[in-house]
Parts: sequence; C-alpha cells; structure tokens
Amino acid sequence: MAQRTPEQPTRNLALELVRATEAAALAGGRWMGLNKKEAGDQAAVDAMRLVLSHVAMDGVVVIGEGEKDEAPMLYNGEAVGTGDPPEVDVAVDPIDGTRLLAQGRPGSLAVLAVAPRGTMLDPGPMVYMEKWVVGEDAVGVVDVEAPTADNVRAIAAAKGREPHDLTVIMLDRPRHEALMAEVRATGARLRLIMDGDVAAGLLALLPDKPIDLLLGIGGTPEGVTLACAVHALGGEMTGRLWARNDDERARAAELGYDLDKVLQTDDLVASEDTFFACTGITPGDLVEGVTYSPRGATTDSLVMRGQSGTVRWVQARHTFDKLMEYSVIPFR
Ligand code: FBP
Repeated sequence: MAQRTPEQPTRNLALELVRATEAAALAGGRWMGLNKKEAGDQAAVDAMRLVLSHVAMDGVVVIGEGEKDEAPMLYNGEAVGTGDPPEVDVAVDPIDGTRLLAQGRPGSLAVLAVAPRGTMLDPGPMVYMEKWVVGEDAVGVVDVEAPTADNVRAIAAAKGREPHDLTVIMLDRPRHEALMAEVRATGARLRLIMDGDVAAGLLALLPDKPIDLLLGIGGTPEGVTLACAVHALGGEMTGRLWARNDDERARAAELGYDLDKVLQTDDLVASEDTFFACTGITPGDLVEGVTYSPRGATTDSLVMRGQSGTVRWVQARHTFDKLMEYSVIPFR
C-alpha cells in the first residue's frame, strides 16, 4: 500500500467502504422484523456488492458469504473492486446478526474490513474461535490458558476496578454455560446477547462504552473481521480456534490448523494497515439503526483506519434519488 509521508496524506479506503456498508444497511433494514432471514441477507449482499464494485481496489474476498457453490455473491475467493491497486484481502459481513434483523432485535450491523493482500487469516472450515476482546487499558493481561476468574481479576486490576464493576458481554449459547458460571463466580456482571459479536467486540474495545470484555466462542470470520478494527482502536483480541467435535478436530489437524495455538490480533490480521467500516441496521448500543422517510433515509456508521488510528462516526442522510441510483430501495 502507499507509504505515508508527512507531506502527502494517503487515501483512507474506509471512507469509501462505508458507502457499501451504508448501502447494505439501507437495503437490509427494510426487512427488520419481517422474519425473512434469507431475503434480508440477500438484499444487503446485493447492495453491498453493487457499491463495492465501484471502489478502486484489487480485492479478494477472504471472509465472505461462503463457498462459491452455496453463495452466488461475495463468496470466498471472489474478486471485488475495480481491479486497480491496492491489492487487498476483504472481509464482508453484509449482516452480522441476520436473526436479529429478522426478529427486529437490536444490534445488527453491516460490516466490511480490508487489509493488505495475504494478511488475513483464512479460517477455512474452522467455523468457531474462542475470543477475549478488551480495550486499550487492559492490553497484555489476558492469558488464554489461565483460569477465567484469574483473567477477569487481572482485567479489573488493569482498569483499577473490582471484578464486580466489570461488565462482560457473551453470546447466549448452551456451550457457554460453564463459562457463564465462572464469570458469575467472580462477581462480574454478565450481559448476554442473542447474536452479533462484532458489535459486542467493538463495545468492548471502545473506551466510552459500558462493556469491559467480550468473552466466548463465536464465529472465526467475525473474529478476523473484528481484528481489523482492533488494529485501529487499540486494545486486544486473543483466543484459539475451537472445534465442535472430533470430526472437526481431525479435519483441523489434517489441514494444519493448530487448535492449541494462542492467537493474537496479529495472527488474525498480520498488518496494521487495515480499514474497517460498519453501519447499524437495527438500532443498537454501538450505532443507530436505519430510519426511512418518504424523502430518503438516515444511517449511522463507524469508520476506522489501522495505520492512523483514526475513528469516525458518520451520520448520513440519503435522499430517495440516491437510494434509487444504487437500486437499494427494495421490495415495496
Ligand atoms: P450471522 O448473522 O452471520 O448468522 O452471525 C451472527 C453471529 O451471532 C455472529 O455474530 C457470531 O460470531 C456467530 O453468529 C456465532 O455463531 P452461532 O450462532 O453458531 O453460535
């Protein structure tokens, strides 16, 4: 990517990517609460892909909607962008929280992240990973191999607080029963969410949000995507790949994935030169959801860049004509 010199400000690709997350949110948001997961997802995918095709970059989707045969668009390996430099890896998540959107619940996001070519971990068939995500004030204190309680106490100490003053956010899953009990035993408060651990991780990373730790097993693609934001916001993500059963463990070994290896942010995305954008679809604690009116719509986004650490909140008003131009006024 272009070298940064004091005389020559370089391009912030995230300011262009945000148009694609806005488009995905504008299209997907129409499906809020309609209980049609696939339709909402398809609308967001189509809109994101359309806008991405105009972004000047030579992108390859590393984290996408799935393999080509099951995902006709934004599949893993698909070329995106105009084909002009820079050469980049792209992580797309047109809706993180498809169920949240379908059920009209808070916290769904449209997300895009970019890093230099070859720097994003390709999780292959490894669907899940354990995640510990903390903000800048608790970097370096989590030891994934230590007992949960020790880590919670260490995070509290790093923040100059007691464990009962911490709030831990976790996906509400049966696989987390033991982990929930361990957290509760420390006295820390627990916030359980139905879906959407990208937004949850961002809440843990941002200093002015009331979450101290994202903990638990969530999607590996979401983990790689979030790692791009960690490079911009500071803070840390650490964890390990997680297999659901013996078959998955055997497959991981066959393909050379080490389930014991402790992964740091750099193992997930091996470059500081990242770009990240997300836009709220349903309203949430991180960003507002899309609102529509006869004249157009509004969106609320977060835009960041790893190299400079710049973080922007972008509130946009979109005219009806603009929505038509991007064909993101959907079905009614
Ligand atoms: P989708 O919207 O792509 O379904 O992902 C939602 C999500 O909650 C992610 O945020 C999270 O990482 C993952 O699913 C957890 O997987 P699972 O629902 O299988 O526990």
